Formats: sequence, structure tokens, C-alpha cells
Amino acid sequence: MSSTKPRKSVHLAAHFPGVNNTTVWSDPASKSQIDFESFVHLARTAERGLFDFFFLAEGLRLREHLGRIHDLDVVGRPDTFTVLNALAGVTEKLGLAGTINSTYNEPFELAKQFASLDHLSGGRAAWNVVTSSDAFTGENFRRGGYLEHSDRYRRAAETVEVARALWDSWPADTLVVDRDAGVFAKDIPETRHRGRQFDIAARFVLPPSPQGHPVLLQAGDSDDGREFGAATADAIFTGHGTLEAGRTFYADMKGRLAKYGRGHDELKILPAATFVLGDTAAEAEERARHIRYQQVGPQTAIAFLEQVWGRDLSGYDPDGPLPDVDPSGDVNITRGRVRHAKDPRAVAEAWRAKAEAENLSIRELIIEVTARQQFVGTPAEVAERIDEYVQTDAADGFILVPHLTPGGLDEFVDRVVPELQERGSFRTEYAGDTLRDHLGLRHPHHRTSVHEGARAS
Ligand SMILES: Cc1cc2nc3c(=O)[nH]c(=O)nc-3n(C[C@H](O)[C@H](O)[C@H](O)COP(=O)(O)O)c2cc1C
Repeated sequence: MSSTKPRKSVHLAAHFPGVNNTTVWSDPASKSQIDFESFVHLARTAERGLFDFFFLAEGLRLREHLGRIHDLDVVGRPDTFTVLNALAGVTEKLGLAGTINSTYNEPFELAKQFASLDHLSGGRAAWNVVTSSDAFTGENFRRGGYLEHSDRYRRAAETVEVARALWDSWPADTLVVDRDAGVFAKDIPETRHRGRQFDIAARFVLPPSPQGHPVLLQAGDSDDGREFGAATADAIFTGHGTLEAGRTFYADMKGRLAKYGRGHDELKILPAATFVLGDTAAEAEERARHIRYQQVGPQTAIAFLEQVWGRDLSGYDPDGPLPDVDPSGDVNITRGRVRHAKDPRAVAEAWRAKAEAENLSIRELIIEVTARQQFVGTPAEVAERIDEYVQTDAADGFILVPHLTPGGLDEFVDRVVPELQERGSFRTEYAGDTLRDHLGLRHPHHRTSVHEGARAS
């Protein structure tokens, strides 16, 4: 690393490991996904570790595979605002980030909900703006498939534009609160918005919240999604977590900022990552192998294969070779899951070639191809790797996805955070009170922000 480049602070966030196949619900150490105690445990652990924020994903409809509900979805997913507002009362500094869809919600309602969370938490709210990708989810709202992909991002952009106008709509001196004169507030100006999606005339119901604008996150990877993120978001939640893919994505996103008049540091890149620790590298590898087999059980392996093949493969042995039949081209076998593979035949061909070359069974192949960024090693090794990714611009930090609920982060906070602190890459105390402070972001209503360099000690 060049000596002229200042050391970057590592940003860390905690993903509540809800509905996905990273979560090992079958492990005896796994507890409820719904009890408030589970949320409190993970949030308090993240705060003890001085993390930037706690993160909730969102799924609006139980996914179906071959007409059946996914086992993973049955673990449940309580309402995001209810959970985050409750957590605001039992944490003090931790940011509280909620994934909320812009396709099926109204901007006035969203602006009110996030401003409320920002008020109640003293400036710790974040909104991960997602658009959702399928008509199946839309059926929940009797609007199945009514928006094309690009229109979803137009609606998302207009939703954020309206929300920002509402958050900005109370002038700074609106609240008078003069008991003697009997004047509470000056007149609140009306916000007018006439756009392609919304035609709104509103007086907003709340004064500016502590952050002015709650932090905006974005997750979505198409060109439209990346443009929306570059124009709008304070941070991106991404799957590009490996060193090479991370660096390419990082450079691409930062390169898009200038045309929106934004500076390099105004957008943080935060890939998802899992981790497995051990007292020795060999022990960590062994644990990681065991966990991957828990995450991809025999039925899960077949289900993943069926998603690509588009047909029932239940007659195949998960420990045997890949099917010799061709994919059917039916991509609707699984409904409600974000689809990243566009061409099933090409994927099937590539998987077959890999399985043959490396002599892999169905389950072994699925374990390999569904692996996401994973840090495996001793606490010192994991800290070193995370730091390397951040210092070499593959990321600004990570949203950690533990495989166990709710205790999966405990070991990381107890053993890896001190290593990162020792390297001088991670804070030893919170320097500010708001999530914008933690992320080193500007406060839109001119509140002074804490600078990057001042935060890592
Ligand atoms: C890393 C990542 C995480 C996502 N998390 C969610 C989520 O929790 N809930 C959701 O409804 N959509 C989620 N999405 C879906 C996106 O918001 C978006 O609707 C979808 O990826 C289609 O847009 P795209 O083509 O731009 O990727 C996620 C996407 C990515 C890439």
C-alpha cells in the first residue's frame, strides 16, 4: 500500500440472518427468528462491537419451489419497522437499517416511517431501497407485474425524490413553541410534487429528524440499479465480495459518481460476507466445511439444481452425478427468489463441465457454486483479510451475515474486532451519535459530520 494513502476505517454492519440458505436453522445452537430476544441479542452484540448498523433484509411473499413453500421462509420475518423501532429503545448508538420496497409503498408513508425511526432512535435510521424483481411478489398487492424493470427504478428514484422533499419541507425556524404568545409553529409549507408516478400536495407531519435524511442504502445490480445507487445512495449493499469482483465493482460504482456531482467518499461499498473462525487455520477450514454441508443439505442441493434445470429432479441422488437431461427452459419453478442467472442452459453447461473436471457430486457442486464471500481462518487472519480488502479498495467494509441466529456474531466481536482495532483500522469508541457520523457521511441539514480520519483511533 502506498504510504501517501491515508488508512481507511473499516465499516462493519450486522445482517440479522433471516431467510436465506446461509442461515442454519437446523443447528441445535440456532434459536428463534421471531422472538424479540433474538433481535436484541444480535443488535447488542453489534453495538458492543462498535458496528455501524444492524441490517434487516425484506421478503414480501413466502417463496415457492415446485409449488411448495421453502423451508427457510417458514422461519418467519416480522415487520421491519416494528422490529427496528423496538430496537431503538434497547440500543444507543447502533444504526438501524431496514430494507423496504419502493415498488409497493407510497413515498409519503415511507418518508413518515423513516423520519419517525430517525426521531425515535436519535438519528440512527437507514433505508435500503429495493425494487423487488418479480410479479409473483406483486400479487400480494394485487398489482402483479405491473411495473417493468426499468420503471421500477424510475419509481424508486421518484419515491426517494418525494421523500427527500418532505424531509426538507419544514424550514429550520418552523417550531416556535412560545407559550406566552400561544404560538407553537409557523405555517408549514405545502410540498407539491407532480411526476410520472406521483401527484402529491402534502404538509409533512414531522419536523426534520436528527439526520435530516435517514441514510439511504441500495441493493440491486443491473445497470439501472447501479445508476440509481450512484445517483442516490449513501451506501451500496452488494454481493460482489471477492477481491477481484469487489475491486471491479468498487471502481465501477465510484466511477459513476462524478456525473451526479458526487465525491468519491459520499458512497460506501459494503458487500455481504460470512465468516468462520478457528484457533488454527486448519480448524477454521474444518468448521467451514461442516457449516457448508449444513447450509446445503441434500434437499437444498436438489432444489438449487431444479431452479436452473426448470424441472423436477427429485429422483436424482444428491451424492451422485449431475443429471444428463437438459434444462427445460422453465425459469418459474421457483417463485419469489432474486434470480441472478439469466440463461439456464449456459449455467447448466458450465456446471456440468465443472462437475466433470473436478469430479463433484450434485451436492458438492452446489456447495461450490453457491458459496459467497467467506472469511475463514484464525481471528488474526480474518482481520488481516478484511483489512486488506478495505485498504485495497475492494470494499469500504462488510455487512456480516452470521450463519447462526442470534449468537453467530458473538465470536467475531470478541475475537476479530480487537484484532482490527490493533491494526488501527477500526474505531475503539463511537465518535458520534448518528449513523451518518459512523459512516463518515455529511448531514444534509448542515450538521457538522465526523471526518473519516478522526474515527479510527
Ligand atoms: C445484494 C442484494 C441484496 C438484495 N436484498 C433484497 C431484499 O432484502 N429484499 C428485496 O426485496 N430485494 C432485494 N434485492 C433485490 C433488488 O432490490 C432488486 O429488486 C433486484 O436485484 C432486481 O434489480 P436489479 O436487476 O437491478 O438487480 C437484493 C439485491 C441484491 C443484489
